Amino acid sequence: MSEHTILQPTTIVIFGATGDLAKRKLFPAFYNLYIDGRMPKGFNILALGRAENTDENFRNYIKENLESFSRKKVTAEDWAGFQAHIKYFQHQLDEEDSYKNLYQKLEDFDKVYGTRGNRLFYLSIAPNFVSVISGHIRNTSIASDSKKDRIIIEKPFGHDKASAIELNNLLSQTFKEEQIYRIDHYLGKETVQNILAFRFGNSIFEPLWNHRHIESVQITVAEEVGVETRAAFYEQTGALRDMIQNHLLQILCMVSMEPPVSLESSEIRDRKVDVLKSIRRISPDKVDHYAVRGQYGKGTVNGVPEKGYRQEEGIAPDSNTETFAAIKFYLDNERWQNTPFYVRTGKKMKEKHSYITIQFKPLPHNTFSESSQLLSANRLIINIQPQMDIRLQFMAKKPGLSLELKPVEMIFDNFACQNDTPEAYETLLLEALLGDLTLFMRSDQVEEAWDVMKTIQETWEKTKDSSFPNYEAGSWGPEDSNALVERQGHKWV
Ligand code: BG6
Repeated sequence: MSEHTILQPTTIVIFGATGDLAKRKLFPAFYNLYIDGRMPKGFNILALGRAENTDENFRNYIKENLESFSRKKVTAEDWAGFQAHIKYFQHQLDEEDSYKNLYQKLEDFDKVYGTRGNRLFYLSIAPNFVSVISGHIRNTSIASDSKKDRIIIEKPFGHDKASAIELNNLLSQTFKEEQIYRIDHYLGKETVQNILAFRFGNSIFEPLWNHRHIESVQITVAEEVGVETRAAFYEQTGALRDMIQNHLLQILCMVSMEPPVSLESSEIRDRKVDVLKSIRRISPDKVDHYAVRGQYGKGTVNGVPEKGYRQEEGIAPDSNTETFAAIKFYLDNERWQNTPFYVRTGKKMKEKHSYITIQFKPLPHNTFSESSQLLSANRLIINIQPQMDIRLQFMAKKPGLSLELKPVEMIFDNFACQNDTPEAYETLLLEALLGDLTLFMRSDQVEEAWDVMKTIQETWEKTKDSSFPNYEAGSWGPEDSNALVERQGHKWV
């Protein structure tokens, strides 16, 4: 979002630099920003890992991974320039001495630049280490300049409202709120950001964007992958915490928020909190009416036979963890009264496809009813991934002598404009380097999002679902998720 160049030298400290996220997302993002000339004029990446290693070894490991995960090609010239900025340091997350060494390294870098540079700490580690790291950062005063030092925290941010509040309180002992960048990588996706441009950069859609003209909204994030190597994490998490509390609720906020007065981060974040506050809270006895959970059994995805969730390595044979969730939300505010927002997400589904469907209300009167022509509903479909486009579906006359109608589409295709769009992490890391918080979650946003989930989360935890597994790998989820929308005369698109 921000367009300024970064003049301040910056040291980026990555805790957990040998982990999966660093190799797949963080280093490729920094490398691509470097090629695009978007990194600060002077920068260093301090890669922290538990094991002993040399700079050279670590750099080779990063290079190998860039070959697989970088958006842009790795050329000898770019790599030679980039690699010189990476330094590896052995670091023990829970040892005070490691932080004292880190302090010294940071001071040494500042001496090279002749100025106290910015510091960006990236916590790419298991959530249970956040507390110990922020405690040591405080004790050693390595992030003592609230104007220059920032911390990026990965999701999951807590596992319920109480733990999120606790974590926020803990972080606030070391950092001011404006130093804390809570990442939700969906907010960095090109198509998700485009919702803002589409809604508030045009005059023709906004007058229709309310309960008077919109019948329902659907948000689907379907994945083909299963739990991969993350069984232990996923067993504790499930689809509700892993996807809905963050990614899907954030998309819902972008679709439904009131127009912000400006693009100020506090303004946009305030509008999103308003949405979260307006989401109707439900009582425990209504959970089955508003929410459906699922767990995949064996099946076939893309012609490949797949095991069921309970047969995956590291998963309990009687696991009660949901790999699919669908929820009907209502927003109790002026704009969205009685408009259902259906959201669903699942693993091992038929295809990888994330999209939003805005379905408009039917015409009050069908002028073409005498010739018994059925009119399809007008829809706006925003494809988030892998397609990245916006489609407006409407009725038009079939060319010919008779007045026959057919549904047609008008398409804006992101790829046709630019087929090389930045990855979400590139956008988000650049914003963090620039000090713009707009695309990150504020403490009250996270807490409110957990509050929205509370009743469903607690009810599902307490009660075992005896129908599990209730959908086949390679399908669109359990039958009950169809019933959830059909009850209101709707259908998943
Ligand atoms: C992560 C979840 O936040 O998002 C994963 O933890 C999920 O379980 C992933 O697979 C999906 O991200 P994307 O960008 O591939 O849609």
